[in-house]
Amino acid sequence: MTETKRIYDNLIRFESRGRKGRPYPVHKKLIRPYGNKNLLDWLITVVSFSEVDYVLDAGCGTGFTLFFLHDLYHIRGMGISISSKEVDYARKFTQRNDLGKYLEFELDNYLTHRRPGSYSKILCIESLKHTGNIEETINNLLRNLDHGGILVIIDDFIKQDSRKIRKQKLLWDSPAFDQESIYTDIISKNPSYHYNTIDLTEFVSIRPVWKLNLMIFLFSVYKWILSGINVRNVNTYIGGLIQEKLYARDKISYKAIIVEHKIS
Ligand SMILES: C[S@@+](CC[C@H](N)C(=O)[O-])C[C@H]1O[C@@H](n2cnc3c(N)ncnc32)[C@H](O)[C@@H]1O
Repeated sequence: MTETKRIYDNLIRFESRGRKGRPYPVHKKLIRPYGNKNLLDWLITVVSFSEVDYVLDAGCGTGFTLFFLHDLYHIRGMGISISSKEVDYARKFTQRNDLGKYLEFELDNYLTHRRPGSYSKILCIESLKHTGNIEETINNLLRNLDHGGILVIIDDFIKQDSRKIRKQKLLWDSPAFDQESIYTDIISKNPSYHYNTIDLTEFVSIRPVWKLNLMIFLFSVYKWILSGINVRNVNTYIGGLIQEKLYARDKISYKAIIVEHKIS
């Protein structure tokens, strides 16, 4: 079992409590001017979707994104995740709501998922930072895109390497939590694609640093009295708090890279 799989298998056990099987986003909420709304409310203002779209959600979490887009635009979609617990969760919701004709979920790795030219849109929302090979992952996803298709990468990017960033990478098993230029340089090597980047950092909600420090301290103490999956989850939460501190200190940014396949 890879560490990333362990993180998300464990996380869903806790985060899904009390949700009665309903999918929920495993990504940031944006504040101002999107009124504390879901990131997807912003996404649909910059990328248009319709019933002719076949969308790959690469790193699909609970399936929330595809259910959201299907609800609004009747898209068809394929969600893949490295976490079997997430895939089970999304499949159960699909079955309960009789959506199997439109949406599928598979346990698969975005590094090796091969459906050349199949998708009109590919979405990677806070998922690519976990790959051990960002170049091969981006190239593989681009190969799966249809002519004229759009790949959307939304993620946290570092401004500069540091000890705190290396710690956060370890806690979240995210070797590709890196500079945006690493990603865009890979895209630029492919002449059939062009991209633009939108900086969303100012819309990320950040708590005061003293509060974050206090929470990190309390979680670190709590960790010593726990065992097994609980420790893994506490590490994930500590990783989230460290990430928020990195935002508070202006060390990282939150960006969307929108890549379009040029039709020649
Ligand atoms: C932060 S969550 C985001 C989930 C979802 N995109 C969302 O916005 O709700 C990261 C997701 O990436 C998935 N993931 C990480 N590495 C992966 C890989 N190599 N292949 C497929 N999915 C992966 C995780 O299982 C998890 O579902």
